[in-house]
Amino acid sequence: MSKLPRWREEWSLNIDVIDQEHRALIERLADLCLRFCPEVTPTRSGEANALIEALAELGEQARAHFLHEERFMRAIGFDELPEHQREHALMMAEYTALLREWRAEGVEVFTPSIQETVREWLLAHILGTDREFARAYFQLCGGDDPLAPSPPRDLHLG
Ligand SMILES: [Fe+2]
Repeated sequence: MSKLPRWREEWSLNIDVIDQEHRALIERLADLCLRFCPEVTPTRSGEANALIEALAELGEQARAHFLHEERFMRAIGFDELPEHQREHALMMAEYTALLREWRAEGVEVFTPSIQETVREWLLAHILGTDREFARAYFQLCGGDDPLAPSPPRDLHLG
């Protein structure tokens, strides 16, 4: 079997609420690899659309995560929120196009190449724009408890 995607601590942004969701996305991807990898697929039957549906659910989980992230960014007054939001929208458009392709091809097996595509799609977000956000977050909030974000102006009260 191709190597299962596994969460790595160095991918953490040290913002727990976001890290937990990133980890859940990677775990969901690993679960899809286990359920639909080429080695197990021949033993299953009557589930022609199961992989596509599971991939669509992963996309919905990512979409929900993006909304949570945007809410978090708004709460701390992150001024690059519009750009980050645009990036989320582009990612979802890209994923929707991929899903359409996979559906048209009647993909039933989570091949290493499709696994890699989805993994790269997720990691581009986690290791790219989100890291930039994390840097800005710690500058704005001065390393305060990431679980309890508050607008930066509140950090200097009293
Ligand atoms: Fe994220």
